[in-house]
Amino acid sequence: MSQPHDYCAIDFGTSNSAVALPAERGIKLVELEPGYTSIPTAVFFSAEDGSRAFGREAVQTYVDGYDGRLMRSIKSILGSDLMDRATEVGLGVNIKYIDVVIAYLKQLKQVSERHAGHAIERAILGRPVFFVDDEPVRDARAQTTMAEAARIAGFKEVAFQFEPIAAALDYERTCQKETLVMVADIGGGTSDFSLVRVGPTRHAKLERADDILANHGVHVAGTDFDREVNLAAIMPAIGFGSPGRQQSVVPGAVYFDLATWHLINTVYAPNRIIEIRQMVNMYANIRHHERLMRVLERKLGHEFAARAEQAKIDVALTTKAEIDLAHIEADLNADFDEPRQARALADKLAKIVDAAKETLRLANIRNDEVGALYFTGGSTGLRSLTDALAGVVPAAERVTGDRFASVVSGLGVYAARRFG
Ligand SMILES: Nc1ncnc2c1ncn2[C@@H]1O[C@H](COP(=O)(O)OP(=O)(O)OP(=O)(O)O)[C@@H](O)[C@H]1O
Ligand SMILES: [Mg+2]
Repeated sequence: MSQPHDYCAIDFGTSNSAVALPAERGIKLVELEPGYTSIPTAVFFSAEDGSRAFGREAVQTYVDGYDGRLMRSIKSILGSDLMDRATEVGLGVNIKYIDVVIAYLKQLKQVSERHAGHAIERAILGRPVFFVDDEPVRDARAQTTMAEAARIAGFKEVAFQFEPIAAALDYERTCQKETLVMVADIGGGTSDFSLVRVGPTRHAKLERADDILANHGVHVAGTDFDREVNLAAIMPAIGFGSPGRQQSVVPGAVYFDLATWHLINTVYAPNRIIEIRQMVNMYANIRHHERLMRVLERKLGHEFAARAEQAKIDVALTTKAEIDLAHIEADLNADFDEPRQARALADKLAKIVDAAKETLRLANIRNDEVGALYFTGGSTGLRSLTDALAGVVPAAERVTGDRFASVVSGLGVYAARRFG
């Protein structure tokens, strides 16, 4: 028999995760790490003693230089062929990628139970509109796999809600009048849109299918921006796009892999290193090749990815970024600024804008019928992106939600209606 408060809501994000619990008045967010209700979706496996760390602690342990493997972006393996593949996490230990998801969900469950003071057996899990674009079979498999992972992590009953619809439910709590809102949830892995009728009279209903006019998304978001920034701002310093001897530029494959989070480790494979070492004759400027080899020897790929993300955020906040690369070569650095970031991200932003337009089209709604444009998700910190989206619905009022808490709060509202 389920207890009345034995449930939670989980926003398992590509970059960050959060959990909401029922509270006397509505919901409360769980402090998953001291001082934080939103923590990185990251697991660190120590190669020194086999221990695991989660969230900020995982990232910090890795940055502090402990030997081991940091796993991030694990949501993006759902629905991919990687899911059942094993990967080495140190000390000769191999684990399946899906086991990383299970371990992370288990951690969220345990911390939440400590917080609640009792067992939690039921969960509402958020899901993106598409785990996988344009592939319904894989997409369905991703949800099934996530449900299965949650069960193995210890939840007896799980149900799903779309992330942007959750954000709409959160927005609705403060909404005084009937409005047609376009929710734009731009996170780390997906950019999702929903067109939802919200308002005080609709708020208490569980079944909202009639109010959801369209739900659409695309697999382009913050992690893709990081890759573009990496290729535009950092990789040129180690030879990306530099003149070749036989060809006009040196081959790009190693740089693309180095800039793609889940492929970084493939570049360190011994035979790949040998192959790249032999490419020295292809470089017109041998120094670039030396720097590249140093990056591979020191396994700096993940660190570069983190710096690219920081540079993107610095540009978003202050219009420019300085990237220190002294650990490759004394005095080496790179800089980046808003116009260059705008150029690097232009194609990705255009895809996201298209997804917003497609959402209107699917709902058969004119852009001037949309009353509010509600922004959530970390990537809505990019002004160029929010401006571009505002251009799709120029008459709508721009509303900025809590970028890291709206989805989990809305999932909590839904969980309380469904389970409470
Ligand atoms: N100020 C900022 N400007 C631009 N981007 C930012 C800013 N702060 C964080 N980000 C980016 O936001 C993204 C994370 O957002 P969020 O936590 O909403 O994603 P998520 O929920 O984990 O992912 P998803 O919902 O796609 O699964 C990261 O790519 C991060 O770099
Ligand atoms: Mg999200």
